[in-house]
Amino acid sequence: MGRPIVVTSGKGGVGKTTTAANLGAALAVMGERVVVVDADIGLRNLDVVMGLESRVVFTSMDVIEGKCELNKAVIRDKRAEGLHILAAAQSRNKSDVRPEQMEKLIQQLDEEFDITIIDCPAGIEQGFENAVVGAREAIVVVTPEVSSIRDADRVIGLLQAKGLSEPSYILNRLSQRLVDRGDMLGRDDVQEILAIPLIGVIPEDSDIVASSNSGKPLALEGSTPAAEAYRRIARRVRGDDIPIPEFRAEGRWGRFWRGLVGPN
Ligand SMILES: Nc1ncnc2c1ncn2[C@@H]1O[C@H](COP(=O)(O)OP(=O)(O)O)[C@@H](O)[C@H]1O
Ligand SMILES: [Mg+2]
Repeated sequence: MGRPIVVTSGKGGVGKTTTAANLGAALAVMGERVVVVDADIGLRNLDVVMGLESRVVFTSMDVIEGKCELNKAVIRDKRAEGLHILAAAQSRNKSDVRPEQMEKLIQQLDEEFDITIIDCPAGIEQGFENAVVGAREAIVVVTPEVSSIRDADRVIGLLQAKGLSEPSYILNRLSQRLVDRGDMLGRDDVQEILAIPLIGVIPEDSDIVASSNSGKPLALEGSTPAAEAYRRIARRVRGDDIPIPEFRAEGRWGRFWRGLVGPN
């Protein structure tokens, strides 16, 4: 039996798809057989973020409707042994899939893969229900903004009510410079509100936007602080007890030195 893990948040645009893609990539590089499932039916974009859109022929909807076998719809990412994705249909709606159908699909994947990562759509309606129904674990993505934290808090309550094992959260887009200036909530502020374990902090990193646009997840080969942060989260998912480092505020000169000496 594998581990079906949903990546969710409540709020849109906080980094769920980016996290699902990079966590999947990092886990595969570490030797896991991974499938990342786009559960955002109608608004799919995991395939784009992973640069595999030209290889999508069949989607999870085709499997659910019995139009193709699961192994035909699962796309192997040749850049990392063990990395796969399952795309969502673009021309359909979230209400076209029932939770029982999604649960069965995730069960099938669970038999084949060590880890199934489910990229959840925004909201707490049917798309959320479908994404969560087959999962046994959950990672909630939060940005240091009041609206994101409030939505996450609501989602955590829903996940707990569904009896998933205790969810953990990722604090994404942290800018230590803004925290130091008093313009952004810091790690401790967020932890005080969300009383669940923190599994990692991803700094604000403009390379993430570039990597999403070029379809190359940073965690496949990048060495920026964000790429390293994804790798550490992957190690924690696998059970390694490694500390979550503090990020130093990095100005222009810090970036310059990092460019010269490489990541530490
Ligand atoms: N740590 C980060 N630093 C900078 N940009 C980020 C970071 N995480 C995500 N982004 C950007 O934020 C946007 C929304 O991310 P996405 O993963 O699509 O969110 P969601 O799936 O939650 O809607 C994308 O443009 C992505 O590149
Ligand atoms: Mg998304």
